[in-house]
Amino acid sequence: TIEETLVLVKPDGVQRGLTGEVLRRIETKGYSLVDIRLVHADRAILSAHYAEHEGKPFYEGLLEFMQSGPTVAIRVAGHRVIEGFRSLAGTTDPTTAAPGTIRGDLGRDWDAGVLLNIVHGSDSVESAQRELGIWFAA
Ligand code: CMP
Repeated sequence: TIEETLVLVKPDGVQRGLTGEVLRRIETKGYSLVDIRLVHADRAILSAHYAEHEGKPFYEGLLEFMQSGPTVAIRVAGHRVIEGFRSLAGTTDPTTAAPGTIRGDLGRDWDAGVLLNIVHGSDSVESAQRELGIWFAA
């Protein structure tokens, strides 16, 4: 089944000049870029996107970090792309993410608070539709 997912190159990734590397990995895997935009996310976008994390110890730091610079939002399509991109991204903690993955190859802990892990990928069909509506709202 062809799916669509939301990929974010977060402010740490954009700031470090890794947008092209993330796009290269998506494209060489064979997925299609459907839409892309640079977004200076505000609190309204982020509280919608991260609703499930509200109240967690890292929540305020996460929202602050995500407003520290621009994010590149990418609509990506492909067969099983939701699971496939999460596999390309690697696990949440960049220190222990497997080598070969985006987080494993390019990330490490830079800060004691929020995990700066370069990318986000939607975790289900429902999340993807919800998140694409937030980041690609007219
Ligand atoms: P992401 O997968 O985009 O979704 C939630 C984000 O919160 C996650 O990436 C990390 O940036 C951050 N995060 C998740 N878990 C933790 C944690 N235990 N400590 C700090 N930050 C976290």
